[in-house]
Amino acid sequence: MPRLLSRGGLRLNLLLWVMIPIAGLLALSLWLSFGAARRQATLLNEQRLLSSARVIAEQVRYDAGRIRAVVPPAALELFDSGGHDEVAYRVETLDGHLIVGFPELPLPAGPIRDFEYRFYPASFRDETMTAVAFRQPIATPTGSTPVLVLIGSTLNSSKAMETQLWFSGFVEQSAVVLLTAVLIWIGISRELRPLLALREAVLARTSSQLEPFDANAIQYELRPLVEAINSHMARLLDVVGRQRRFLDAAAHQLRTPLAVMKMQVAYAVRTRDEKELREALNAVGSDLESMSRMTLQLLALARVENIRALPPQMVDLRAVAREIVAGAVPRALDHEVDLGLEAASPSWAMIRERLLRELLTNLVDNVIAHAGRGASAVLRIEREDDQVTLSVEDDGRGPGMDDLSILTSRFQRGGNSTNSGSGLGLSIVAEIVDICDGSLHLYHPAGGRGFGVAVRLPAAPQDEVARQSTGSVSPDRQSGS
Ligand SMILES: Nc1ncnc2c1ncn2[C@@H]1O[C@H](COP(=O)(O)OP(=O)(O)O)[C@@H](O)[C@H]1O
Ligand SMILES: [Mg+2]
Repeated sequence: MPRLLSRGGLRLNLLLWVMIPIAGLLALSLWLSFGAARRQATLLNEQRLLSSARVIAEQVRYDAGRIRAVVPPAALELFDSGGHDEVAYRVETLDGHLIVGFPELPLPAGPIRDFEYRFYPASFRDETMTAVAFRQPIATPTGSTPVLVLIGSTLNSSKAMETQLWFSGFVEQSAVVLLTAVLIWIGISRELRPLLALREAVLARTSSQLEPFDANAIQYELRPLVEAINSHMARLLDVVGRQRRFLDAAAHQLRTPLAVMKMQVAYAVRTRDEKELREALNAVGSDLESMSRMTLQLLALARVENIRALPPQMVDLRAVAREIVAGAVPRALDHEVDLGLEAASPSWAMIRERLLRELLTNLVDNVIAHAGRGASAVLRIEREDDQVTLSVEDDGRGPGMDDLSILTSRFQRGGNSTNSGSGLGLSIVAEIVDICDGSLHLYHPAGGRGFGVAVRLPAAPQDEVARQSTGSVSPDRQSGS
């Protein structure tokens, strides 16, 4: 039934769920009341037959040497109930001498004792009848002699009564069922009203209306649904807010260098001096370079936001770190930075690979950009319990500030920064760590020099790792080193 009804309306489905069993019960009850009506009609008919048999028997007398019987009208009036029943009677002595009545009315099977009566089906002139036989002793001068009184009637009025009894029951019960259906329909409609109102409210919302719905306006069973909708909208609100803040910040950050470049270009157009022209163009060139870097970082940040909805994957940190470090070594050499990797074994963590690459690239690029010449840096991967720690630590000149935590805010740069950065790198790292349910820690390394960033990520479950390593994909295969 649920499958059959699943596509109909809730109201109709609920109604059917209630009404189909009730209709079944109604059918059962009608069947029972049909039996009861039949029994009642039979009983009344038999009482009528017996009463008139007794009335006839009372009138049987011994008179002037023989037994005589008069059938009084009262005995037959009982059958005059509008059912047009045929009535037949027969009074005779036990030795078969007919006193009065119709000899065609058959006798019951078997003997009957004095004052006893018996009902039996009889057929009289092609009519089917129910008859009663009643035996009564009559006093005669020679002693008492038994007389048999038989009376039968067709079943028209009995059947009519049976139908009437049954039909009135049927009408009453059907009316009750119909009334029940109407009440249920009204009840369901009333109860559905808050839900339909909620539906209207949801439909009427514009895309920017994300405030929560009132969960108390609906039945408590449906409150979890409203709360789920509300929490979904809260997440949307969060995303929308984040994007708005991001766009505001991005617009602000791009406006300034664009204004500066416009001035520089205007100056270059005006100047007649070859040397000044060259200087202005050089300035524009370096501004363009840093702007394009910033734009790339902004795009990276937007991409990270988009990946938020995707579930994490199992990734071998060591394999990806090897690749990133190998790719960065030439640039590190250019900047006289010694870059190394310390990872004893494959370390599987739960993160999307694209996010991991973004994260590692930002940290390695920071070392190359900010640690300074002669610095050495190490990318370390260690596993402890259900977490994998990935740290990048250098002994360079450090960001030159005590409170490192502000460096994870967007567009925040340290005191040591050159004009080449955008201030987005560490905020991208923080965002990625947040997406992966990890934790981020910026610190001054033990030696007092340099800068350290530690990222803790959830380790991949051991059984998953075991399955992966017995599979065809070797963790080292993707390593570029
Ligand atoms: N390895 C590092 N050594 C010294 N300072 C660093 C290092 N990494 C990051 N920083 C400081 O943190 C700041 C923020 O870094 P980031 O968000 O990547 O921005 P950006 O690199 O564009 O300046 C940098 O401007 C720099 O001052
Ligand atoms: Mg950076």
